[in-house]
Amino acid sequence: MCGIVGYIGRRRAAPVLLDGLKKLEYRGYDSVGIAVLDRGKLAIEKRSGRVAALAKAEELSGTIGIGHTRWATHGAPSERNAHPHRYGKIAVVHNGIIENAAELRAICEARGEVFSSETDSEIAAHVIAHYFEEEGDLLRAVYRAAGELNGSFALAVLAEGKEEIVCARRASPLIVAEGEGEGFVASDIPALAAKGRRAYVLEDGEFARITREKVQIFGADLALRLREAFLLEEEELAPEKGRFAHFMRKEIEEVPEAIQNSLFLSDTLQNKEICEVLCQTYYFDIVACGTAYHSGLCFACAAERLLRVPTRVHIASEYRYSDPIVPRGTLTVAVSQSGETADTLAAARLAQERGSKVLAITNVVHSSLSRLADFTIFTGAGREVAVAATKSFHAQLAALYSLLAVLAKYRRSCLPPLEKFPDLAREVIQKSECAAGWSPYFLGSKSVFFLGRGVDRCAAMEGSLKLKEITYLPSEGYAAGELKHGTLALVDGRTPVVAIITDPQLADKTMNAVHEVYARGANVFLITCFPALCTQKEVTASVLIPACPSAFSPMLSVIPLQMLAYHVSLAVGNDPDKPRNLAKSVTVE
Ligand code: G6P
Repeated sequence: MCGIVGYIGRRRAAPVLLDGLKKLEYRGYDSVGIAVLDRGKLAIEKRSGRVAALAKAEELSGTIGIGHTRWATHGAPSERNAHPHRYGKIAVVHNGIIENAAELRAICEARGEVFSSETDSEIAAHVIAHYFEEEGDLLRAVYRAAGELNGSFALAVLAEGKEEIVCARRASPLIVAEGEGEGFVASDIPALAAKGRRAYVLEDGEFARITREKVQIFGADLALRLREAFLLEEEELAPEKGRFAHFMRKEIEEVPEAIQNSLFLSDTLQNKEICEVLCQTYYFDIVACGTAYHSGLCFACAAERLLRVPTRVHIASEYRYSDPIVPRGTLTVAVSQSGETADTLAAARLAQERGSKVLAITNVVHSSLSRLADFTIFTGAGREVAVAATKSFHAQLAALYSLLAVLAKYRRSCLPPLEKFPDLAREVIQKSECAAGWSPYFLGSKSVFFLGRGVDRCAAMEGSLKLKEITYLPSEGYAAGELKHGTLALVDGRTPVVAIITDPQLADKTMNAVHEVYARGANVFLITCFPALCTQKEVTASVLIPACPSAFSPMLSVIPLQMLAYHVSLAVGNDPDKPRNLAKSVTVE
């Protein structure tokens, strides 16, 4: 999703900005731009497409600048709609959505102002420019403008004649940092990382003024705020694909390590306070989006089946507007790889308002979610670059199942062991390579069904999401028993079906569905831990996964599904790492 960088110092700004933008590329975007102040005058370069298309901008001189990668919300992805947006002496980059842009635009147009894009963001440049004319002070102008903007924003602003960058944050992440004679801003830590830089995460409603000498942070009333900085680590080496053609394939290979690094390792699980909260937990509420929502569904199956803890799993964007009932004894678990998903943050905040403690499960240290939550378990997936989540799903499961294991201890109950999963996952990855040979059955298919019951249904939903995301084939993850109540009408020889069967109690039941779709001409692909099922005549091809406690089986059964999506994506000619229209981190509603 949209990314922001900004630099002020003694070096030329353009190369620093382009370097920062490259580090934000993984988030998903469709256009780029930078604005540089050169001897007090603004120079702007923007392009539709990728950062490489902006190479010429590297020649811009000037030591102050802002840059942006845009993921279109309002207005098509085009050069015209790319940021920075300029009006008068002001240039702005914006992440978020300004909800009253149309109203404000009408006011500006009535003043005779002409707009040059279809974006909601351009309004920020107009309103700030208006107040800058009155105030002559950029911080005050941004402050007054922010008071008029509804919605969410992270803003970085330049003004002609001013040797500073001014920033504002409301519900969209922004981090500012200072080094020797330099100042920085970015929407994401990797764009800033360098040893010794002192960084500050802006809170909602805060403003910052960055000069070569210092970073100053101001509260919602513009009073100066004193803050503890945290030291950034050595610049993280940009992840490389190594021997793999794509990050997604490499990240599937890293699943065993991600599981290993997320099992029982979190200090949080030893923390006395969380132990007390766990002892008084009678219900779990999960709030999450996308793949993280599916790991929540898998967790719910295990929590209810193994420990009988009633668990509700909520799509965060639904939860936040649902006036949720939060009974006493509820622990809300917010699951988010990035820790920046706007809906998940809002849901977690609402749960706290309703009296629940929030436990965050996230992969990103210093993320907004980890700062908001009462407790955090950091998953050890390492940086995930491909937009479609893979290893982070397994890391979330490992952390969530570890949480259950700790709870089991308090309840003097015993859970099946988890330690073998890294090795078992390694075995499944090898076996899943055969999915490459399944692709021809999926090319030209009308739609694809993923079927399962119980925990296998949760795996089916994740398998379907992966396929949709990177192949653009319509697909559905479905409860096998529900097939006859409508979906079966869609099944024919052009609808491949992927069935997941790992639960001995439900195997025969799901096989009924397999018979039904086979009888209608569908090719059936099976992921199972039961060897006898693989040789059934209804099964076109299968991956036999090792036997494991079925409550935890998504840790293994989802791997072949990820691999299948990857190979079909290649077969249809897509770049699996960068699916169209999607972003890695969804920081707007
Ligand atoms: C986006 C990503 C998905 C991810 C979802 C939730 O849609 O493309 O891969 O599952 O956001 O992201 P989070 O960072 O909260 O886990």
